[in-house]
Amino acid sequence: MNAMSAIGPVLDMLQEAGARRYGGEAVSQLEHALQCAHLAETAKAQDELVAAALLHDLGHLLHDPGDDATQQGMDDKHQFRAMPLLRRLFGAGVTEPIRMHVDAKRYLCRADPEYHRALSPASRQSLEWQGGTFTPEEARRFILQPYGRDAARLRTWDDLAKTPGKPTPGVAHFEKTLARCVKRKD
Ligand SMILES: [Fe+2]
Repeated sequence: MNAMSAIGPVLDMLQEAGARRYGGEAVSQLEHALQCAHLAETAKAQDELVAAALLHDLGHLLHDPGDDATQQGMDDKHQFRAMPLLRRLFGAGVTEPIRMHVDAKRYLCRADPEYHRALSPASRQSLEWQGGTFTPEEARRFILQPYGRDAARLRTWDDLAKTPGKPTPGVAHFEKTLARCVKRKD
């Protein structure tokens, strides 16, 4: 299977399920994914991190626990749900920032008090269900892990990617970036 056909199911999921609302925010899942990937691309992030930005909430699309898990008082653990699918296709440069993007919020709340103040109401609420702000020691351990800095960068784009009506490139624009990130079979 070539890289383009390998990513087909992932692109289909984004397109089909992307019309769902993104948590308690005023954008759809697809708008959120595209805005996040566009922010990564604009920041000249490497391909893997742009791919991670596009796919970071794929777990929400595999199983949506309801219109708004946060408002139901749930941590839906979406950062782990898409891992088996993503690990078949991509290496750690894509999957690790995705796996760590929820903990990255807990890190940023410790590292940057302004960040915590600027969280949207829905995101602030979900922080508590995700375990709350890291202690100083937890924050230090987090950022020293491989891909810790990438996860923190992804998280800052994630938090910004909630602007209703913001123009972005479509899914097709990111196809080649995703294809370049597909693992080669030796
Ligand atoms: Fe997100």
